Amino acid sequence: MDLPHFPVFASDAFLPGLLIAAVAITHVFLAQFAVGGGILVTFFEWRAEKKGHTLLRDFLHRFFTTLVLVSFVLGAVTGVGIWLVTALVSPRPLLLLVREFHWIWGAEWCFFCLEVACGYAYYVHGRTLGFQKRFWLAAGYSFSAWMSLFWVNGILSFQLTPGGWLETGSVWAGFFNPSFWPTLFGRTFASMALAAIGATMVAQLIRSYDESDTREIVRNAATLLLPLALMPVAAVWFLAVVPEESRRYVTGANVPMTMFFALAALFSVLIAGTAIFTLLKRRPLFHLPGTVLLAALAFCATGATEFVREGIRKPYVVHGVLYSNGIAVEEVRRLRRRGIDSLDPWPLRDPEKYPTRTVRNGRRVYRELCSSCHTPAKMNGLVHLTAAWDRQMLESNIKKLHLLKTFMPPFAGDDEDLEDIVAYLIWLRKGTE
Ligand code: HEC
Repeated sequence: MDLPHFPVFASDAFLPGLLIAAVAITHVFLAQFAVGGGILVTFFEWRAEKKGHTLLRDFLHRFFTTLVLVSFVLGAVTGVGIWLVTALVSPRPLLLLVREFHWIWGAEWCFFCLEVACGYAYYVHGRTLGFQKRFWLAAGYSFSAWMSLFWVNGILSFQLTPGGWLETGSVWAGFFNPSFWPTLFGRTFASMALAAIGATMVAQLIRSYDESDTREIVRNAATLLLPLALMPVAAVWFLAVVPEESRRYVTGANVPMTMFFALAALFSVLIAGTAIFTLLKRRPLFHLPGTVLLAALAFCATGATEFVREGIRKPYVVHGVLYSNGIAVEEVRRLRRRGIDSLDPWPLRDPEKYPTRTVRNGRRVYRELCSSCHTPAKMNGLVHLTAAWDRQMLESNIKKLHLLKTFMPPFAGDDEDLEDIVAYLIWLRKGTE
């Protein structure tokens, strides 16, 4: 794996990965709303025409304004934000994905352009065009938005289950990997549910609509919640194809992972329950504050799902190839012989803080190998995790990190690096006593 190394972005206060998580979860939420929104608009166009429903048609254009604002403006801002933050925090894995999937990213960009073109034409001319043209613009918009999801989903699912790519290096084997279809279905269902909740909220915000208007729109929008019933199938399918240890993380072996998985499932059940109630009773379960709460719940479900998807990949960022700290699996042996110096020539930001050469190098070993998942003394702080360990335990445990906890990569430094990181941890401990 001839990937260059980059300087590590580390913080003593928080885990840098949280920056990616914050931007990415917001983006996924908005982007999936946009994808579902396209499907909803196309569905409403068809329904309005079939039933001669003027209310639905009026609603469509108001909803589309929200959709355009959300997807084009906020979606694009957070989408570009992901590239910026990932390039800063996790440049090596990003480089691998860009190199392997260059043309897939290109295809995604083309569909985004198509989405903008169809969306813009629909937004500007939608009210004046005849049904046929309007419908095809809406369908073009929603198809191209969904295709963006299609392309990006292949790359994201590749990270957890690279499949045949590992043996053949084939881009398509990596793209249509074992978890591609279950995650594509899951994300599509989630997108439709988000759009239904969004439409309910927009309908409740329109002042000129009376209660029966809102009900009518919500009843139609709730149809998009129905595929949620298939979500358990997608989840079980997903769990069946992920690596053995990932499955174990969400079924009890790792407490936070299991908890977040359970929360994601619980939130989805609550949202689906609301859908069933809405459809059976033919009226929204809540007024506006309740709908806002439901949207918040959907945001949490998205966050928990993404957290689990990222978390169960540990210790890898690309399964079997790259570890979360950016070290390639095949590099470990060499680094154990040649030491961290061979990949990290960059000076420390504040070398004068550290009293000896040993502690300074220990800080550097920490920065390269541990800082992606541990701060020194705050979030997942090493000082607290190792508080009860003496020098000998520190040495013997860090040497076999990957056996200690399977979600940690092996220690990829030489004997001197091991001594130095132990000296650094002991020095840290004194500083925080
Ligand atoms: C891929 C992420 C990741 C990397 C990289 C990583 N760790 Fe961890 N480590 C964790 C997680 C998650 C825990 C669990 C924390 C808990 O139990 O609260 C953990 C736990 C630990 C513990 C406590 C183990 C125990 O049995 O209680 C120690 C010590 C530790 N890590 C040291 C290190 C050191 C030193 C490095 C760098 C050489 C490192 N880790 C790199 C994720 C990582």
